[in-house]
Amino acid sequence: MMSRAAVLLCLLCCLAAAGEAASVVGEGEAAELAVSVDPSWRFPSQRLRDAYVALQTWKQQAIFSDPRGFTADWVGPGVCNYTGVFCAPLPRGVPGAGELAVAGLDLNHGDIAGYLPPELGLLADLSLLHLNSNRFCGLVPATLRRLQLLVELDLSNNRLVGAFPAVVLELPALKFLDLRFNDFEGAIPPELFDRPLDAIFLNHNRLRSPLPDNFGNSPASVIVLADNSFGGCLPASLGNMSGTLNEILLINNGLDSCVPPEVGLLREVTVFDVSFNSLVGPLPQQVAGMRKVEQLDVAHNRLSGAVPEAICALPRLKNLTISYNFFTGEPPSCARVVPSDGDRRNCLPNRPTQRTPQQCAAFYSQPPVDCAAFQCKPFVPVPPPPPPSYPGPLPPVYPMPYASPPPPAQYR
Ligand SMILES: *[C@@H]1O[C@H](CO)[C@@H](O)[C@H](O)[C@H]1NC(C)=O
Ligand SMILES: *[C@@H]1O[C@H](CO)[C@@H](O)[C@H](O)[C@H]1NC(C)=O
Ligand SMILES: *[C@@H]1O[C@H](CO)[C@@H](O)[C@H](O)[C@H]1NC(C)=O
Repeated sequence: MMSRAAVLLCLLCCLAAAGEAASVVGEGEAAELAVSVDPSWRFPSQRLRDAYVALQTWKQQAIFSDPRGFTADWVGPGVCNYTGVFCAPLPRGVPGAGELAVAGLDLNHGDIAGYLPPELGLLADLSLLHLNSNRFCGLVPATLRRLQLLVELDLSNNRLVGAFPAVVLELPALKFLDLRFNDFEGAIPPELFDRPLDAIFLNHNRLRSPLPDNFGNSPASVIVLADNSFGGCLPASLGNMSGTLNEILLINNGLDSCVPPEVGLLREVTVFDVSFNSLVGPLPQQVAGMRKVEQLDVAHNRLSGAVPEAICALPRLKNLTISYNFFTGEPPSCARVVPSDGDRRNCLPNRPTQRTPQQCAAFYSQPPVDCAAFQCKPFVPVPPPPPPSYPGPLPPVYPMPYASPPPPAQYR
């Protein structure tokens, strides 16, 4: 049971967050200062004064509990000395280059309760904002769009709510986005997959509605979207990530389609996990195109037919898990890669702990799966540009360096 005080605090927090979100910091309008600044203090620059206002507003008005005392030394004008605050000269090529600025804020594992006030937009020079494992609730303020140098945003493991925070789409430098373990709800905006992000962690939220067809535009090397409830198709456009995607986890998302053969184009992928979904049909032979895959997990779906031998023969494969499906065939070579209980609860002859013959018969008495019926958008790769056609004879070939005589002895 939550105590009455805790209920009140949470209510207060979310009300405060909702109210504050409407106000605007900077952006042409005169912002009301939320905290007073001692007029006798001299700040080295306006940017460090702004940082003072942001951090003090947060501490004085939007942090309700700080059990580990991270903000206890947030006192006075010397913001660069505050715990969790890191200052550095601004990089070359940006306005104010060389000036000292608040470049990083790291309150990871602070267990701090409160919300994110719009004044955080005053920390416009941040390149790194790490707030994981706290109790921040309410909305992500839209004023974070002023953080035009932000490279890493980690808000994971908090109590943030609302729609997917679209403000992250307006951060041109952002590479690393971690929003996992919050309560964001609704759809992922398709624009996310057009952003030049390298890592996307959205697992364990309340995101819904099918994954967009431009999914494969993302240049990310790691995408973790487990434990939401997207439903719909496993996007065939994944095939467009063939040169860049290293790890993808789509566990427990209600995905409801066949496994598109295009996933076999993922020649760099090392971890591919689509377990705990409602995928149907066969495991396509083309999956054997994942030449670097080490962990391949398709457990807890409704896949059928035989596991293609070529998949089990993949040279780097260490763990193929196929349990809780309706597979009827497993080539002997799979013994190398399927853990001893990694094939339980299928319809495999001569294997222990399988489904009952009745369950298998009932499953296979249904009409065969028609993958086209899901109307998932296919992925049609753009053909590579045609080789340039030379108008005349080919240009002369230069003498090959390795065809030259060995260097004189004194150089050896
Ligand atoms: C930070 O702390 C150091 C040493 O404690 C002190 O010398 C310095 O003046 C402080 N900087 C600011 C800006 O307060
Ligand atoms: C593949 O992704 C690129 C962006 O990386 C995009 O421009 C292109 O349209 C995508 N191709 C297809 C066929 O979806
Ligand atoms: C194989 O992977 C599954 C989940 O993907 C995991 O539960 C299991 O422990 C792994 N087994 C081995 C032997 O690595």
